[in-house]
Amino acid sequence: MANNKQLVLNNYVNGVIGVPQESHMYLSTASISSKVEQEYKIGVVLVKNLYLACDPYMRIRMGNHQNREFGNFIPGYPINGFGVAKVLDSTHLSFKEGDFVWGTTGWEEYSVITTPERLCKIHYTDVPLSYYAGILGMPGLTAYVGFFEICSPKTGDHVFVSAASGAVGQLVGQFAKFLGCHVVGSREKVELLKDRLGFDGAFNYKEEPDLNAALKRRIRMQGFVVFDYCSMYPKFLDMVLPYLREGRLVYVEDITEGILNGPAAFLGIFTGKCFGKKVIKVSGE
Ligand SMILES: NC(=O)c1ccc[n+]([C@@H]2O[C@H](COP(=O)([O-])OP(=O)(O)OC[C@H]3O[C@@H](n4cnc5c(N)ncnc54)[C@H](OP(=O)(O)O)[C@@H]3O)[C@@H](O)[C@H]2O)c1
Repeated sequence: MANNKQLVLNNYVNGVIGVPQESHMYLSTASISSKVEQEYKIGVVLVKNLYLACDPYMRIRMGNHQNREFGNFIPGYPINGFGVAKVLDSTHLSFKEGDFVWGTTGWEEYSVITTPERLCKIHYTDVPLSYYAGILGMPGLTAYVGFFEICSPKTGDHVFVSAASGAVGQLVGQFAKFLGCHVVGSREKVELLKDRLGFDGAFNYKEEPDLNAALKRRIRMQGFVVFDYCSMYPKFLDMVLPYLREGRLVYVEDITEGILNGPAAFLGIFTGKCFGKKVIKVSGE
């Protein structure tokens, strides 16, 4: 048995737009077996969580309004989200001790995952493992699908990226530059966008009340949900990994150490305190 620190939802965040506070979560300690327990037997993995992603969609899950798409968190239970983990024990044929995986896991030190078929096994470990919570995980696939599939971009197009220095937007802007587009981002951290990520222009959304005036162009928008495009993940990796290895793609992360600091780190994504993809490092490998 081992101690298992967990971040538990204390109470629901009010309404659809209410901002969470640290008091909406608390740290608790449970105990967990170091082997997959007898009761689970077949098809279960026990993981040590290494990195947890702070993603905006998690806010929706903290409310008590009906949320069919993602499911609500339940007060008194640990919250969950995308993360990177190491398999400690497995009774699932596709996973073995020592494998690295990414996918939905608990906001806790160790998790028993009863639907491991939804996890992705990590095959490439020559890049930082934390990237599977960002550029090589759900946000990266969102950027890829949103830009290449939904936007159908052409060289020379003008591309406007909102939330441009976040986990998704920083990639959309760089993909657009690879294709020879003119890229403008809406973001406070203007220097980061222009100097490190190569955007052609940027403005601070907090100081720009009139989007039309800022853009002075016609704009096409379309909604989508990344989970409808999971089958594109291998194609996405084939494109992104070489760019990363060659150093042609920059990914800015903002890593907080320790699950204890999880609530503050998570709240940072709603209060402008993060610089790039916000990730919590729970443990070393
Ligand atoms: N459709 C999908 O399947 C899908 C998948 C993933 C993400 N998303 C959505 O994509 C968006 C970005 O996600 P992310 O993971 O990149 O989030 P993130 O890493 O938290 O970054 C969000 C960025 O947006 C900026 N921002 C906040 N309010 C803004 C505003 N009014 N105008 C312009 N920028 C603003 C923030 O800047 P400050 O820090 O300065 O406030 C921050 O840099 C979110 O809305 C998320 O829900 C959609």
